[in-house]
Amino acid sequence: MLQKISQKIGVFDSGVGGLTVLRQLYQQLPQESILYFADTARLPYGNRSQSEILQFVREILTWMSIEGVKMVIMACNTSSALALEKVRSEFDFPILGIILPGARAAVKLGQKIGVIATPATAKSRAYSQAIQEIKPQATVIEVGCPPFVPLIEQNRLNHPHTERVVRYYLQPLLAQEIDTLIYGCTHYRHLENVIREIIPPQIRLVDPATHVVTAAMRELKMLGLKNYRIPEPTRFCVSGCPEKFAFLSKQWLGFTPRVEKISLPVISENAQMDSLVRITKNVPHFGE
Ligand code: DGL
Repeated sequence: MLQKISQKIGVFDSGVGGLTVLRQLYQQLPQESILYFADTARLPYGNRSQSEILQFVREILTWMSIEGVKMVIMACNTSSALALEKVRSEFDFPILGIILPGARAAVKLGQKIGVIATPATAKSRAYSQAIQEIKPQATVIEVGCPPFVPLIEQNRLNHPHTERVVRYYLQPLLAQEIDTLIYGCTHYRHLENVIREIIPPQIRLVDPATHVVTAAMRELKMLGLKNYRIPEPTRFCVSGCPEKFAFLSKQWLGFTPRVEKISLPVISENAQMDSLVRITKNVPHFGE
């Protein structure tokens, strides 16, 4: 058990969006060791089909399982919306999605809830479903924002063009007088300064990254898996260019990470039924 407690928490995203979750981990769970993976060779995820996302997520989780993680946080709304329910029972560690913690936080704050998300997440209506299950009288308006992730990954945060693009996609939400806005993509928190300039100050902003990490903390405690020793430095891995990821991440991490390029195991479409992935089931889930 002691050995398991000190194992890493796996965190993954298509790119730098998951750093918003990683920052929360550093704040709320500073004693945990983290394995961060960014699938930069295949981003953006938000325009992909469900079968592609499922394939990618299974590859990532299989690799993380080989690396011996004790828990995985999907720091990616698109993966949580399109793959979480399907893959959760295929692995022997708890897997937390980001959508339910975000929805739970939003219903406490508002009634007319806007969600900005990738096209795939918005189309799935995962936030609408999660919110209306908890609060049927809430109104949810989900808007897909295809250019946001490319703008962030190209490091064009402070460009005037970015401000115009963000304004355009927020407009329908402002026209409907939302009282709460959810960052339905982990990348979008990186646009916080631009978004705050555009929306009226009374609109409450919900960052699901904060709430998924709180849920992870609860689950670790409940499972007796919380680490109380000194953690190892975060291991950063990518499928694309390590130097590019290191350069872009520095502004959010406050340090330049050492980044490794790794190759994920290739899983054929039916391989998830084979032994490697289907290690166990029956892991209790208390959060999402
Ligand atoms: N950051 C991810 C999300 O929360 C994926 C964005 C993308 O690659 O399109 O959905």
